[in-house]
Amino acid sequence: MPAISCSAPGKVILCGEHAVVYQKPAIAIPVFEGSTKCSIVAKPTAPHDETMIIAPNIALKCQLRCLVENHPIRTAVNLVLQKLSLDHLPVCEIRIQSTLPTAAGLGSSASTSVALIRALSTFLGRSLSDEEVNSLAFEIEKIHHGTPSGIDNTVITYAKTLFFIKARASEFILPGEPLTLVIADTGIKGSTSKAVADVKLGFNTEPEKFGMLINQIGELVYSSKDFLINGDLRSLGNNLTKNHELLREMGVSCDKLDLLVDDALSHGALGAKLSGGGQGGIMIALVESDQAESVASALRSKGAVNTIITHVPAKGQTG
Ligand code: PMV
Repeated sequence: MPAISCSAPGKVILCGEHAVVYQKPAIAIPVFEGSTKCSIVAKPTAPHDETMIIAPNIALKCQLRCLVENHPIRTAVNLVLQKLSLDHLPVCEIRIQSTLPTAAGLGSSASTSVALIRALSTFLGRSLSDEEVNSLAFEIEKIHHGTPSGIDNTVITYAKTLFFIKARASEFILPGEPLTLVIADTGIKGSTSKAVADVKLGFNTEPEKFGMLINQIGELVYSSKDFLINGDLRSLGNNLTKNHELLREMGVSCDKLDLLVDDALSHGALGAKLSGGGQGGIMIALVESDQAESVASALRSKGAVNTIITHVPAKGQTG
């Protein structure tokens, strides 16, 4: 069998995180500046049951059978085998390399799942469709995050800007004007499942307050979709900053995220907010393209451990 390699991008949530868990819409964008590559090579002469998994960025190097039953990688293998009605994986070496930081809000877990599922199914002789990949990756997201909305696996599988409502058909959207985003990593690891649980607790203890915040985020996402499609980046930027305020009131920001958001705005960003689960992880700033470098450099001097500049082409533009 030939060696197989498949890649998947990262992602950012432009707006609507957390509220999306409560059936509100969110917008997510694939990020191609970071990605995960999964390579599989057959080892026909290796002893039976000696499939090696090598994933340096999660410090994993062991045999597949040594992983706990519900480990995301082992689960991915089992789900793909089940989907293809196969009872075993031919002995092979699976190598997973990612340039995405973990627990940052850039979708590293979904990116790993999508790359792995694609590589495994191709290795086994039947490449799964995007729809099939997406539904298996969603099962693995449940192991990582408990009750995921499904936005991460969907935007990463299809690698297109997405207007997403949980359990509904996805709508791909194209901006009316090209977008430039500066992504800054606080370097603080955020736990999405903890942040989601904290919001749930808030909702249970203060249903009126949290219900209102969730509704307001939902409204912002609907108008953001229009601003995005119409290329009204100034209004979109204002919405992103308002979205950050609402997330802060929900308790999913942190001092460093607030500091970086304020800093981006004071350096002329059109809007800025935390992105993803929060309580650490990344923030994003919507900027004019010629400001991107200076905003990124300002964010690094304020303590961002890394910055990425990503561009989203407008409708009618290629690449
Ligand atoms: O932290 P991330 O990038 O996995 O984003 C999670 C987004 C949430 O809305 C907080 C959770 C979800 O499942 O949608």
